[in-house]
Amino acid sequence: MTQDELKKLAGNYALKYIDQDDMIVGVGTGSTVRYFIEGLATIKSRIQGCVSSSEQSTKLLKEFGIPVYELNSVGTLDIYVDGADEINHQLKMIKGGGAALTREKIIAAASAKFVCIADESKYVDLLGEFPLPVEVIPMARSYVARELVKLGGNPVWRENVVTDNGNWIIDVHNLKILNPVELEQKINNIVGVVTNGLFAMRGANELVLARSSGNIDVI
Ligand code: A5P
Repeated sequence: MTQDELKKLAGNYALKYIDQDDMIVGVGTGSTVRYFIEGLATIKSRIQGCVSSSEQSTKLLKEFGIPVYELNSVGTLDIYVDGADEINHQLKMIKGGGAALTREKIIAAASAKFVCIADESKYVDLLGEFPLPVEVIPMARSYVARELVKLGGNPVWRENVVTDNGNWIIDVHNLKILNPVELEQKINNIVGVVTNGLFAMRGANELVLARSSGNIDVI
């Protein structure tokens, strides 16, 4: 199966988690989540609506006629479904390849359960081959980059990308992330950093993994 077919498999499988009527579902961003949203559209009469992590997902949800709520107007969400750029065996992740990391991390924090949907290529022993996205306040870009070098990374400004929050992204290459929780905290402590793409302090609770064979493992 192609990677795209595997993403669709994982996205559709996650509909199993919509197991009560009138749920408000937290929805991530990206090509895997796109398939989850397409699946949600087929059961939209059963859900109340969604909280969305990006303008991209909001647009798609609205195109399908699915109500989108502000996080501030709902309580704790039962479930948040999102993809990942890398996920390790402890279900800690690198996210933010689509630049939506800050809103994704906020909704993940406000949800009781985080279900990650991914194809097998995302499942790794060691995080860091995928460059770690860091969202920064624009005026702090160069300062933050120098601090990231001190942490052993090679920061590259993702030029021409402005996040939904009006900020910029630095992608940090060449990190071997042996202690994801510690690195997440260290990067958060750099002045000018809004969020970093390590989802380690709050990782996923379950991983729906589409194996290249076409089987689904729930980990
Ligand atoms: C968006 O900023 C990311 O965190 C995505 O969740 C991640 O990049 C996975 O995207 P794909 O499903 O497109 O691989």
